[in-house]
Amino acid sequence: MQNPAPKGTFDILPKQTNSEENWKESHRWAFVESILRSTAIDYGFSEIRTPIFEHTELFTRGVGDSSDIVTKEMYTFTDKGDRSLTLRPEGTAAVMRSFIDNKLYESAKIHKLFYIGPMFRYERPQAGRYRQHHQFGAEVVGISSPYQDVEMIDMICQIYKRLGLQDLSVLINSVGDEISRKNYKEALTQYLEPHFHSLSEDSKVRFTKNILRILDSKSPQDQQLLAGAPSILDFLSPESQLHFKTVCSLLDSLNISYEINPKLVRGLDYYNQTVFEVTCGKLGAQNTIGAGGRYDGLIKDLGGPSLPAVGFASGIERILQTMKKQNVSFPAPFHPFVYLIPFDEKSKPFCFDLLCKLRHSHVPVQMDLSDKKLSQCLQNANSFQADYVIVIGEGELQEKKVKIKHMASRKEEEISLPSLFETIQTLWKSHS
Ligand code: HAM
Repeated sequence: MQNPAPKGTFDILPKQTNSEENWKESHRWAFVESILRSTAIDYGFSEIRTPIFEHTELFTRGVGDSSDIVTKEMYTFTDKGDRSLTLRPEGTAAVMRSFIDNKLYESAKIHKLFYIGPMFRYERPQAGRYRQHHQFGAEVVGISSPYQDVEMIDMICQIYKRLGLQDLSVLINSVGDEISRKNYKEALTQYLEPHFHSLSEDSKVRFTKNILRILDSKSPQDQQLLAGAPSILDFLSPESQLHFKTVCSLLDSLNISYEINPKLVRGLDYYNQTVFEVTCGKLGAQNTIGAGGRYDGLIKDLGGPSLPAVGFASGIERILQTMKKQNVSFPAPFHPFVYLIPFDEKSKPFCFDLLCKLRHSHVPVQMDLSDKKLSQCLQNANSFQADYVIVIGEGELQEKKVKIKHMASRKEEEISLPSLFETIQTLWKSHS
């Protein structure tokens, strides 16, 4: 019986046989996750972990019932207690649910939370788009200042820089406050109404549900119609204008180059004021590596206090694929420093004792427990990519001498058995 992974999902393995797939190797994921975590900590964030499923209503209310995520992409199921549950398609609504549920707002005025984990969207799988993907996200609650928006944009850029990524573009826009959006929606409705029948089927639905989302349409015909559409930036209230102007001038002062894209509205309904995306030209159709924005109304909409918030999330698959495309180097995967091969039954207790002692003193050592012939044990040592190999048999135990072989140079050195532990420790210290 064949058991392939479900469509749109994949396994992260210690080693992939096809080098094209090596971005799915666990040591690469661990490296990226360590940079994500350390950068989050440097920027003052603490980790939050929420369940991977939530009540469906959280996402219909939070992400918005005009979004593609809610209308087409959710993995929703009814559990045995007849509750409608959904595998989380994104992290923001879930984190804000937890924020409200745990009354975090009672303990402090400002909250900086980050998360790493899988998200689920029933999308048509293609390069860079999966049904289970992984996000790193960061959310700040309690600050409405445009400085906070820029801190988030600086953080996402810093993450990509620390990971060695280059040639990324920052796109920004403002979707304003409620009054700005109300006025703009009226203007856009007036502009698109005469062209309604030429709009794509998706955009016809968006026309009544959330007309702003038409700006996001991938249909070339819609984009042609939108060429002469009014710009949201001409409809910003004075407060929203000031907020956006401050964001732009702070980005200028940090030398973060960006492009203003008045059609950037994002696919989730909770945003207000600043929205942003970071893209990489080389990634193809799914070229957004990370994205976010301000969402001052979400916590209140979900039944919590009225608190401003801003955040972003970045797809870890897309980070790793961009790193691969840009030939970014990774630290070498873990491998044993010494591989011990007991030549016979009599030498096993000695080898096992040495193995444990070395490990307890933090030297990464492996022992061959396969009971196979020496040639097979040496192959095992090679497949583990051990730096050194030591074969110990009855003869070595009697003569109190062993040979340690450096696998890369094939050089061998003789060492007295009583000093073997210290010699390996010294070698390890000079190596690391
Ligand atoms: P999003 O743009 O829907 O935003 O997703 C964030 C990132 O997740 C995308 O930029 C992309 O890198 C990655 N991503 C999304 N869908 C997929 C997929 N099917 N396969 C692979 N990668 C994917 C959000 O989810 C918001 N919660 C971001 C946010 C946080 N806004 C404020 N705070």
